[in-house]
Amino acid sequence: MVFLTNAPLVNGLTEYIKRNSISFHMPGHKGGRLLSEAFYANLPKYDLTEVPGLDNLHAPAGIIREAQELAARAFHSDACFFLVNGSTSGIHIMMMAALKSGDRVIIPRNCHKSVWGGLILSGARPIFLQPEYDGEKDLFTHVSPDNVHKAVQDHPDAAGMVLTNPDYYGLCPQLEAIGRILAERGMKLLVDEAHGAHMIFHPDLPPSAAYCGADLWVQSAHKTLPALTQASYLHYKAHNSRDKLLIERAVQLHRLLQSTSPSYLLMASLDFARAYMEEHGKEALDNLLENLIWVRKELGALGIDTMEDYCRPEIYGSDKTRLVLDVSGLGLTGPEGEEYLRSAGIQAEMSDLHRIVLICSIADKQEDFLRLIDACKNMSREARLNKKNTGNYEWKLSISREIPKQMLSPKDALEKKKEFIPLSRGAGRICGEPVGTYPPGIPRFYPGELIDKDGVEELMEYRRKGCSLFGLTRDGNLSVIIDD
Ligand SMILES: Cc1ncc(COP(=O)(O)O)c(C=O)c1O
Repeated sequence: MVFLTNAPLVNGLTEYIKRNSISFHMPGHKGGRLLSEAFYANLPKYDLTEVPGLDNLHAPAGIIREAQELAARAFHSDACFFLVNGSTSGIHIMMMAALKSGDRVIIPRNCHKSVWGGLILSGARPIFLQPEYDGEKDLFTHVSPDNVHKAVQDHPDAAGMVLTNPDYYGLCPQLEAIGRILAERGMKLLVDEAHGAHMIFHPDLPPSAAYCGADLWVQSAHKTLPALTQASYLHYKAHNSRDKLLIERAVQLHRLLQSTSPSYLLMASLDFARAYMEEHGKEALDNLLENLIWVRKELGALGIDTMEDYCRPEIYGSDKTRLVLDVSGLGLTGPEGEEYLRSAGIQAEMSDLHRIVLICSIADKQEDFLRLIDACKNMSREARLNKKNTGNYEWKLSISREIPKQMLSPKDALEKKKEFIPLSRGAGRICGEPVGTYPPGIPRFYPGELIDKDGVEELMEYRRKGCSLFGLTRDGNLSVIIDD
């Protein structure tokens, strides 16, 4: 392989792949394993543009249109739009299509930060809602139908709601029941299904937004399917006569927010992923789910809780392809566990204070799981020894779950002048940039919100325990609004 003297990114990637780490992170193709020989070999040559015969994403009438129509059929939508800038751009499109400036929209606090972009671009005003919180596990678990029912009663003027299905941990709300509550009031259901593109291909997985009354929903094919990074789908389904306007706006906004030079590599990988899943998805997911049954059993025997008991099917569902290892029983924090696995050649997707999250996909092989179990055996043995010597830390968040006070709309906050101050001095100031832990990329404070002491302490504790924060400068400073 060529080593260039002045190409740090190229060289960094070259060095990284030499390590041959086992990937339990996105993209779902896991190093190109499922991209067929022909597709893989042709990748550089597929990097083409809108020459005659290759259609145009901005006015699809040929092969792109055909591929989008096949995707709509496979994912049970009425229309599918290929996205080349991830679900992030799909979330922006769906919020701008469904919401007008000044509209109220219900936003659970566990939404991904791309929803902040959707608020700014649409000009909609958020009605924040706190999902259910399991204090014992220190985890937001789901948004309940009761919670939504109360929100729509308190805000009958809301135009719609954005909901995540599933979240980073694979937890899914009762989407169908929530869809009904919103539909009864003519409110739109916009679903962030970034982590759930595979769910429709297996009956044992939670239902996709397609079956739950969603008007628009997005899926990051690249997270769980054999598709290239950034390749995502935006889906639309008609429910009533007002929908004609919704699809017209979605078409227009799709043109507005996608590059005029969309990558054929990404679009082809969306076509490939859909075709692959239609032909082999059920069988491949059967295999993955079966593997995960014994993996969970082995890990459970090591004292690692794989969250199986967290799920209460009557309250919320869970995507069993998502493997979450709670290592607090070993006396480890999530980042410590993640680091241990990394040193054993296994790269996880992310960790929080107590857990390591692994993205599994149909590209995973049995030997990957065997390596994972081996690494966990060693980690468990070492952790137990350390625990005996040094004593386990007992750490619990004792923070407020109050929704921060909104002083300015996200859009007004964007336009204000900012200054940067140490995070520790943030309490009492108005947030200038979304800030939280990344991954999962959920803002603890949105711009325009009053930063409180509890939130600052929580963020500092996350940082101390090795979690990475987003929204801070390189020196760890916080963006706050300067009063005028
Ligand atoms: C829940 C959720 N929604 C949306 C996104 C954004 O998706 P993408 O990376 O495809 O833009 C992410 C990214 O991690 C996510 O976790």
